[in-house]
Amino acid sequence: MGKENVLIVLDIGTSKITTLVGDIDDTGEIHIVGFGEAYSSGIEKGIVVKPHDVIKAIRRSVDTAENVAGTKISGVIANISGYHIECRNDIEKVEFNTSQKIVTQADINQLIQKVASKIQPEKENLEIIHILPKKYILDDEDEVIDPVGLVASKLEGRFHIVLDKLNAYTNLKKVIESAGLRVVDFVANPVASSYATLYPEEKEMGIAVIDIGAGTTDVAVYKDGSIEYIKSFPVGGNQVTMDIAHRFKVSKDEAENLKIDYGAAITEAAQNEIIEVYPRGSEEPVHIDQIDLVDTIEARLSEIFEIVKKDLEEKGIFERINGGIVLTGGVANTFYIKELAESVFGLDVRIGKPKDYTGFSDKVAFPQYSTSIGMLLFAKSKLPASSGIVTPNSSNFDILRIGKSIIEKIKTIF
Ligand SMILES: Nc1ncnc2c1ncn2[C@@H]1O[C@H](COP(=O)(O)OP(=O)(O)OP(=O)(O)O)[C@@H](O)[C@H]1O
Ligand SMILES: [Mg+2]
Repeated sequence: MGKENVLIVLDIGTSKITTLVGDIDDTGEIHIVGFGEAYSSGIEKGIVVKPHDVIKAIRRSVDTAENVAGTKISGVIANISGYHIECRNDIEKVEFNTSQKIVTQADINQLIQKVASKIQPEKENLEIIHILPKKYILDDEDEVIDPVGLVASKLEGRFHIVLDKLNAYTNLKKVIESAGLRVVDFVANPVASSYATLYPEEKEMGIAVIDIGAGTTDVAVYKDGSIEYIKSFPVGGNQVTMDIAHRFKVSKDEAENLKIDYGAAITEAAQNEIIEVYPRGSEEPVHIDQIDLVDTIEARLSEIFEIVKKDLEEKGIFERINGGIVLTGGVANTFYIKELAESVFGLDVRIGKPKDYTGFSDKVAFPQYSTSIGMLLFAKSKLPASSGIVTPNSSNFDILRIGKSIIEKIKTIF
């Protein structure tokens, strides 16, 4: 297998840092051939708060993956999350001086450059993470996904742009580089999670994927087949754990265990179980009712869903998601969370697990790996189906980093 066919992703989360080595075969299938994971430390709500701790944790994760895959890792595709990521939709047009111009990749690049030129990274203190083509309109009427090779007199492109605050982006990049790695590219968490969990028909109908991790809740909305909106909220499973720790005066570790062993998202699901716990600094156990534990979890998870719902309503998107909600991320493992989400959103809800890969499924076939596997799928989607090698002329080419081609970066992974 050629080196060009290997993608390496580094998913830096609040609770864990995962490294995946993905081999892409001739048919375009992704096979995970390396897996490394370390407890995360020094990341809060998607933001680097203790750089040295993060560097050590990244190294532990990458070292493990290197051992498992039997290969040296020097470049990675990393993720971006946190409240500082934002999105915009934009439209650009070009009118040709002939009525029957064959659309080329150069025409598309021109549109993308026009979109990019409207964003002034320094002035706005922003970094462009993605310019994702949504669709193209030929001659003001025909909607197409890939216009290259078609004939038109006018070409309109609709794009979804993902941006990050420049300083947050720079800090994350520096930390990864300090761990001895080169950042090949970045993928925004909500985009990644959507790649791992959503089906084309859901994207047509209108769907929101909500990835609730330990520190962030990442949301992506699709409508009419393409991405419309992304957002990352600084809330997640850690808050649930801290609520339990406060209410029952137990350590964070004990609260986490209580949540996993006895937790559920709706009080109707609680048995009348009495649980023995040891409050912080006490050798005497106390007894708590499981229903009180579940009540604490329900209150926080309801609040997270309400925050997401309110935001989608305010943005005028909520009414458009006829296909319902996909819940993923570690918190989606909570018992009865589907039922709670259905009652808050009033929509169909399903739990999303990562799809479209093979290998290490005993480790990664769970909602908490949707981002990591989605990162592989996103990176793969930029490769032309036939060769497994990206060329800058590929019509689905997404300018991940303006001015550079992903092929150079993927080729330099080793
Ligand atoms: N069975 C479970 N029940 C309830 N919560 C769970 C369960 N399993 C995992 N979680 C919670 O999921 C969270 C971790 O999810 P995940 O691994 O997706 O987060 P992360 O990627 O580390 O963080 P983030 O993406 O938010 O930065 C933790 O808060 C954990 O307590
Ligand atoms: Mg995560």
